[in-house]
Amino acid sequence: MKQNSQYEQLEKIPTRIARDANEACREVAQEIAALIRSKSDSNQKVVLGLATGSTPVPLYRELIRLHQEDGLSFKNVITFNLDEYHGLSQKHPESYWRFMHEQLFDHIDIPSGQVNVPDGKVATSEAFEYCATYEEKIEAAGGIDLQVLGIGRTGHIGFNEPGSPPDSLTRMIALDSLTIRDAAADFQGERNVPRHAITMGVGTILAAKRVVLIAWGQNKSDVIAEAVEGPETESISASFLQRHSNATFFVDQSAASRLTRIDRPWLVGPVDWKPSLIRKAVSWLSLKQGKPILKLLDEDYTENGMSDLITPRSTSYHLNIEVFNDIQRTITGWPGGKPNADDSQRPERANPHPKRALIISPEPDNDLLGMGGTLKRLMDQRHDPRIAYLTSGSLMVPDSEAKAMAEFAQELQPEADESLPRSTLRQLEEKSEFDLDSAEIRDFKGHIRRVETRSALRRLDVQPKRIHFLDLAFYQKGRPRQFRFEEADVSAVVELLREVQPHQIYLTGIEADPSALPAICFALVNQAIERCSGDDWLEDCRIWLYRLPERSWEIEEIDMAVPISPKELTDKIQAIYHHKSQRSQSPGGDVSLREHWQQTEKNTQDLAAQYDHLGLAEYEAIEAFQRWR
Ligand code: F6R
Repeated sequence: MKQNSQYEQLEKIPTRIARDANEACREVAQEIAALIRSKSDSNQKVVLGLATGSTPVPLYRELIRLHQEDGLSFKNVITFNLDEYHGLSQKHPESYWRFMHEQLFDHIDIPSGQVNVPDGKVATSEAFEYCATYEEKIEAAGGIDLQVLGIGRTGHIGFNEPGSPPDSLTRMIALDSLTIRDAAADFQGERNVPRHAITMGVGTILAAKRVVLIAWGQNKSDVIAEAVEGPETESISASFLQRHSNATFFVDQSAASRLTRIDRPWLVGPVDWKPSLIRKAVSWLSLKQGKPILKLLDEDYTENGMSDLITPRSTSYHLNIEVFNDIQRTITGWPGGKPNADDSQRPERANPHPKRALIISPEPDNDLLGMGGTLKRLMDQRHDPRIAYLTSGSLMVPDSEAKAMAEFAQELQPEADESLPRSTLRQLEEKSEFDLDSAEIRDFKGHIRRVETRSALRRLDVQPKRIHFLDLAFYQKGRPRQFRFEEADVSAVVELLREVQPHQIYLTGIEADPSALPAICFALVNQAIERCSGDDWLEDCRIWLYRLPERSWEIEEIDMAVPISPKELTDKIQAIYHHKSQRSQSPGGDVSLREHWQQTEKNTQDLAAQYDHLGLAEYEAIEAFQRWR
C-alpha cells in the first residue's frame, strides 16, 4: 500500500487525522454525497452500510444538513445497518432501529422500504435463517457501495467481538463484557444490557466496495493504533480492514494519539524537537530502558532512534539534566501557589493568596475522581475553592436506588398521602427499566445525588456553602449521547463565573468523545469563558485541566503534579464512597463504584511510580493537571 509519508510507514490502513470530529464528518459526508449524486445522475441506486452509537451522530447531523440546505436527496439510497441488540423491539428506546430513525431517517427523504435494520425480535431458533436472508438482501441490492463503521473498545466493527473470523457473515453473537459495560449507561445499568446481538460479519463488511471507519476521543486511541499498526488478528476485528483495498480511517487528534507518528514520531522519521517532544522522548526512553533519566547514556539515545538529540553541545549528560529539571518543576504541593515563595519556576503563581478556585464538575463525583486530593489541599492551604456541578447526575441513579430512597422518605411521613416520595414511588413502580424517567423522577434522583455530594464533600471538610448545583437544563431534558446545550445553559455558567471571579478554574473533558457528557460540558464552559473575554478577572485567571479515571496523563502532558499523601488518598477514596447510588452506575457507563475508585487510585499511584522510575521523588500518589491556554 502506498504511504503518504515516511511517518505513516507502520500504518497498514490509510488514516486521516482531522482537527476534530466535525471536520472529519464534513469530509466523509462530502464523499457520501458525491457518491449519491453520481449514482442518481445515472439513475442508479446507492447502497450504504450504516452504524449506530455515539460516533456517527455528527456525521448524520451533517448529512441531514446537506439534505436540508444543499438539496441532497436520498431517494436513490438503500441502507443496511450493521447490527441490532437481540431482544429489543423497534420501539425500545435503545433499539438501533429507533436510533437510526431519530438520528437520520426521520429527517431525510429516504423511502422507508429502502431502510434495513436487523430485526432484534427474531427468535433465536430462526436467527440463522434470518441472517442468511439479510446477506441475500444485501447481495440482491448489488452489494454495499460504502460502509460506515465505528469501532468499539474491544476492536469490534459491527458487533464482531474478539474471536470473529475474517470470513464471518451476518449472525447472532454474544456481546463482550467490555461492550456490555460501555452500554451500561444507555440501559440504566449493566444488568439491563442485552447479552446478544445480530451483526453483519467481518466478511460482510470486507465485501463492501468502500469502507470508512470513524473514531473520536482518547478512549479509542489504543484500539485505533492496534488496528492500524498491529498484526491482523481475530482479537481486534477492525484489524482485518488491513486487507481491504479501499478502506480509510478518519479520526480526530485524540483518537490518533497512540499512532507512532504522533506518539513516538522520532521512530519513523526526523522530527522538530520541541520541548514537549523532548520531554516525551526522554521520559519514554528512561522508562523503556528501566533507568532513571540522570543515568541515560549516549548509547541509550543512539540505539533508540534519538541520536539527533545528542550533539556536541548537548550530550546526554546535559540533556538528562535539562529534562530532569523540567519534570521536577512540575511537582508542587501547593496547587494554589506557595505564598511568599519565589514562584518563577513553579506551576502556579504565589499571589494572590488565598485564591478563589472554581472546580467545574460535569456530574457529581467527577471532581473527586479527578482531583479530590488537590481539592483537599486547596482547603487545607486556606484557599477559597468552590465546586460547580453542571448537571444533576440524575440519569445515573438506578431505579432500585431511587425506590429505596423514596420508601425511606415515606417511612418518615407515613400519614402524608400525597407526599412527593409517595407519588415518585408510584411512578417508579409503574415504569419499566427502559422507560425514560419523568421530570418528577429525575428531580427526585437529582436530590439523591445532592445529598450524596454534600456528604462526600463533608468528608473532605468542604462546607455546603462552597457547592453550586447548576442543574443545567440541557441535561434535565436530554438523554445520554443526545445532549445538546442551549443558550440558557451557557448563560448560567457565565453568571457563575462572573459571580465567583475565580483565580483558578479546574476543568475536564477536553479530549473525551464529543458526544459524551464531559466533552459537552467542556464545550459549554469554553463558550462561557469566551463570553467573558474582556472581563478583568479573566486576565488574572489560570485554567487547569484534570482528567477522569478512564485516562491518566502522560508525563509530557503535565504542567502541575500534586503529590498526594497516603492519608489524603484514603480521604479521597472514602469521600468518593459517599456517592453510594453509583455502586452499579457511573459516568461513562462503566461498572461499579468500586472499580471507579480503584481506577482512580491506580492512576494516581501509577503516575507517582512513573515519577519515581524517572528518578524523581517517590510519592504515594500524584494528581496531575495541564495548563490550558
Ligand atoms: C454500532 C456498531 C458498533 C459501534 C461501536 C462504537 O452499530 O456497530 O461497532 O460502532 O461499538 O460505538 P460508539 O460509537 O458508541 O463508541
